[in-house]
Amino acid sequence: MNPELEFSRERMREIVEHLVTLPSQRVGTKGDPAVLLKALSEPVPEQGMEFEAVLDLVEREVLANTMHVNHPRFFAYVPGPGNYVGAMADALISGYNVFAGTWISGSGPAAVELTVLEWLREMCGLPAGAGGVLVSGGTLANLTGLTVARHVKIRDRLEDATVYFSDQAHSSLEKALRTIGLPAENHRKLPSDPAYRLPVGELARSIAQDRAAGKYPFCVIASAGTTNTGAIDPLPELSTLCRREGLWLHVDGAYGAAAVIAPRGRELLAGLELADSLSLDPHKWLFQPYEIGCVLVGDREHLRNTFKVLPEYLKDTQQHSEEFNFTDYGIQLSRNFRALKLWMSIKVFGLVAFRAALERGFAQGEFTEACLRAMSGWEIVTPAQMGIVCFRYPALDDAAHLRLVQTLLEDGFALITSTILRGRTVLRTCSINPRTTEADIQASLERLDSFARRAAKFKSTGR
Ligand SMILES: Cc1ncc(COP(=O)(O)O)c(C=O)c1O
Repeated sequence: MNPELEFSRERMREIVEHLVTLPSQRVGTKGDPAVLLKALSEPVPEQGMEFEAVLDLVEREVLANTMHVNHPRFFAYVPGPGNYVGAMADALISGYNVFAGTWISGSGPAAVELTVLEWLREMCGLPAGAGGVLVSGGTLANLTGLTVARHVKIRDRLEDATVYFSDQAHSSLEKALRTIGLPAENHRKLPSDPAYRLPVGELARSIAQDRAAGKYPFCVIASAGTTNTGAIDPLPELSTLCRREGLWLHVDGAYGAAAVIAPRGRELLAGLELADSLSLDPHKWLFQPYEIGCVLVGDREHLRNTFKVLPEYLKDTQQHSEEFNFTDYGIQLSRNFRALKLWMSIKVFGLVAFRAALERGFAQGEFTEACLRAMSGWEIVTPAQMGIVCFRYPALDDAAHLRLVQTLLEDGFALITSTILRGRTVLRTCSINPRTTEADIQASLERLDSFARRAAKFKSTGR
């Protein structure tokens, strides 16, 4: 027994050691389900055991079987680079077990969250009356934004209501539409244009067709940085169309909207400020540990009108109108103080460092593209855009590309994953970790190249 819940200095140092030695470690490990489940499943332990022994188990069986999404050679999906100040803020939040749902329980935290939201609002250029709420991530941010759209535009009456988005929109949006009760036959998933963007002309035609058929178009979903290629839908044109048609414009900027703090991002993301609701994930390109997402709404009161329910046991929270209760502006009541990590890390490093870190993501994408162009045998499918590059090795078929990913997984030096564009399997890198170096990119691509050559040779010679 360890009733003091003691934690040795050496153990505390291990997390620092892990971060410092990350570049020399494998990019991560995917456990074998049969082995892992056998190692970890057990009846609920009646008696406690030594903390050190549990920690050993965590290290050996649990954390050893993860992908290090903050590894400098993790180029898969959307990396989670994180930062140390954010991680320490998370420890503080849990240690103090802050309740950030109401002013009465967490007034300091509410003031910090309001400040952080104001920073994000200003960065994105939304009007002064806009406001938002921090949530677990992009999925919940999209769900929150679309729930507000439903409430404001159609008073929650879903019959015949239609929503428009492109075939490149993130899957969380379809999940959100299902969750708010909008059946699939009311979703209009339009084929994207050659640059993988939502085509405005096609959209206008689809809306007109639906109106003529007695449907009730109410919302357009745009992407500000798609997961597949980093494409940004034409936001100003979409906003003009939405205003003309009286539709809500939800912008999913979970991946890309944070880039607005860098000059290049600001230019590419022109029109972001026109969103009626906007998702932005600090746990992606603002370098925070999971979980922190944000939804901003052009008029903050829309959030309150959508979500506020006041039961008798929370009446004490509502004594002073200037006291801000986040539970009135979103789905959660009990919620953690996730604002602290973003607030502390921006205060410690300064926005100037975040801007430089973000710019590095753009540069790393371009460096990746340049390396691939310099290596023979590779085809660039979509050029570097918002830190994302898609490419293929035309000598190999789709199945062989999938096998390349498996080879990288087993090799453990770097991870690059696949996606499908216009029916073809492609490889894709997302290089937003500011601790990634050009040498990391070069070495990872050389490794990939050697695996691709070997596979192509095997295909042609059978050995
Ligand atoms: C464009 C986009 N939207 C939404 C999401 C969902 O975000 P989360 O995984 O934080 O729920 C992602 C995740 O990668 C994304 O890239």
